[in-house]
Amino acid sequence: MGMFDGKVALVTGAASGIGRASVQLFAEHGAAVMASDVNDAGGAETVRLVREAGGTAEYVHADVAKSADVRGMVDATVAAFGRLDFAHNNAGIPGLGLTIPDYPEEEWDRGIGVMLTGVFLGMKYQIPRILEHGDGGAIVNTSSGAGLIGFPGMCPYVAAKHGVIGLTKTAALEFGAQGVRINSICPGTARTGMVDEWLGDSAENLAQVVALHPIGRIAAPREIAEAAIWLCSPASSFVMGIALPVEGGYTAQ
Ligand SMILES: NC(=O)c1ccc[n+]([C@@H]2O[C@H](COP(=O)([O-])OP(=O)(O)OC[C@H]3O[C@@H](n4cnc5c(N)ncnc54)[C@H](O)[C@@H]3O)[C@@H](O)[C@H]2O)c1
Repeated sequence: MGMFDGKVALVTGAASGIGRASVQLFAEHGAAVMASDVNDAGGAETVRLVREAGGTAEYVHADVAKSADVRGMVDATVAAFGRLDFAHNNAGIPGLGLTIPDYPEEEWDRGIGVMLTGVFLGMKYQIPRILEHGDGGAIVNTSSGAGLIGFPGMCPYVAAKHGVIGLTKTAALEFGAQGVRINSICPGTARTGMVDEWLGDSAENLAQVVALHPIGRIAAPREIAEAAIWLCSPASSFVMGIALPVEGGYTAQ
């Protein structure tokens, strides 16, 4: 028996990295999972991996910055599996490494659109579907260590990730008493597509990033996804509105 048997989860940014690990973990615990992304090939691979391991998953294409896509993604989840219990709003794009005067305005809009408006739209359409079956549920939004402290060169990323924490607290206060627990996670650096692109092949870059993390290494995506799973599990039944650092001590310094 899995702890999420009979439950349904929706994960965005599910084509790789933390989102893929989250889909896999939800499925390993027995949930039927809707994986969503704009990268259809990666999404299909996530579903294949889950099915190969004996789990249940489907894929739906959705750009989280687009209202119609997000509404369609949530509707598709309920159409496929009959209900919605958990959502992990996790889609994200990296910063450009440019200071504020040099940051193109359209790239600012894009970062805020995907990582802040995307989380707002996700919760806007997910919460009513979680409420409708009366059993409660949980939502986890992926913020970042850069949601707790600044990071030069990534202004929309940092602003969006700080915003996700406030949005999450507000949503938790609005719906906690109705049984929907809403929390955010603040990952440190995890070895994902986004980070590989950023680090390139350089051992020196990797050493610099590792040095930011007092634990002495960067994370595997699964170590981050485990926190999202815990926040949806009965083990966290009295936890709501928090921004949980999962970052090897990055913000403890
Ligand atoms: N990896 C890290 O070190 C790290 C650290 C802190 C926070 N995060 C956050 O974790 C989340 C997952 O990132 P990751 O590291 O797994 O990166 P990743 O690049 O492996 O995954 C991000 C996914 O989001 C998808 N995506 C991008 N724009 C989208 C859109 N408009 N609509 C739907 N999907 C979209 C991408 O296609 C990709 O599959 C992001 O929100 C990221 O900001 C990552």
